[in-house]
Amino acid sequence: MSFRSLEGKRVVLGVTGSIAAYKAAELASSLAALKADVHVAMTPSAVHFVGPATFRALTGHTPMTGVFDEIEERTVAHVAVVENADLLVIAPATGNIIGKIANGIADEIVSTLAMAAPCPVLLVPAMNTHMWTNPIVIANVDRLRNMGYHFVDPVEGRLACGYEGVGKMAPVERILEAVERLLLGAAQHDWEDVPVLITAGPTREPIDPVRYLSNYSTGSMGFAIAAAAQERGAEVTLVTGPTEMQPPDVARLVRVQTASEMLEAVRNHFGSCRVLISAAAVSDFSPVKSPRKLKKPQQEGERRTLELHQTPDILAEMGRQKQNQILVGFALETEDLVANARQKLEGKNLDMIVANSAGEGEQPFGPGPSKVRFLTRGGEDHPLPLMSKQEIAEHLLTFIRERFLQRG
Ligand code: C5P
Repeated sequence: MSFRSLEGKRVVLGVTGSIAAYKAAELASSLAALKADVHVAMTPSAVHFVGPATFRALTGHTPMTGVFDEIEERTVAHVAVVENADLLVIAPATGNIIGKIANGIADEIVSTLAMAAPCPVLLVPAMNTHMWTNPIVIANVDRLRNMGYHFVDPVEGRLACGYEGVGKMAPVERILEAVERLLLGAAQHDWEDVPVLITAGPTREPIDPVRYLSNYSTGSMGFAIAAAAQERGAEVTLVTGPTEMQPPDVARLVRVQTASEMLEAVRNHFGSCRVLISAAAVSDFSPVKSPRKLKKPQQEGERRTLELHQTPDILAEMGRQKQNQILVGFALETEDLVANARQKLEGKNLDMIVANSAGEGEQPFGPGPSKVRFLTRGGEDHPLPLMSKQEIAEHLLTFIRERFLQRG
């Protein structure tokens, strides 16, 4: 895999105390080979794993190992270095450094740099599976993702402790891909002027004037696809249900509440789109809406029944209408993933479907990582490892481009 030159870019590489610290040397070496100006900072525990001399030899700069290092008179090193940095990468990032950054603690050089950094921050976690799946670590990672910190998620493999599971630091190539994207933007404008319609988020079906039926979708998958498509040159129309997440900057944004409103918006833009990517978690039912607020039951234990009617299947309707459009759906399944997803692929007349398993350690909703596979009408089954929604979005766009948009 080849990467573009990073000449003129300053990358600060924070190394923390995980056994994966030795791989940070390979990362520093690759970044330097791509002509980035690399400055390394090491926590006291990282120094136990790799010697600063290694990084000095690879980058040409003496690593910062203490908050009180000074590079110039009256200038504290960490402020001077991050002030002019284009990117701070922390690889490997331990559960400890993630916890400190998420909670505003700066008590050694790497966490201090993270607090002072005005540039984007990319975290590359590496830790034992039990640490990675600890609810406190999950909450800290979610918090940082929501605040705009970037992640290259760990992969499955044999860990230093002898345990098999998720927690191994992502391969250096995956880290370089993310660094390149953050520093230089999309690799190519391979979606230049392709009109793409994307649905995202949940829908809200009113029960009465003050209540609604919905689901846990946050819009993060659809938003990641919309952001990546826009960056790669596509002309994006994003139809989103209500969510607290900030939608990306796209050519056209349509906000809707209910499944019927989403259908209306999709109908309006379907005729002029080339690709429809349906990432919305559309509610399958809508209550028969009461014009007045439903009263609280009068007697304890009294039951209420909500009458539900089926909402329109937006994607299936577009499947019936499609002319030359490429239709991409999502299928979230807890069991028989491939068989159920294939059934939807056929039943809704789609070209491909992203099958998303809702198993342990996977977070189909929210900004966390997911494990998906791409299934095509032609019978292809392309599984991906556990990866962030941004990475899935990039892979999906490349896949659609190569399989369906090459001709014309
Ligand atoms: O049938 P199921 O809801 O599992 O199918 C999921 C796919 O269909 C997703 O791509 C989703 O966006 C789409 N869908 C839709 N309208 C519905 C239900 C699902 O467009 N009412």
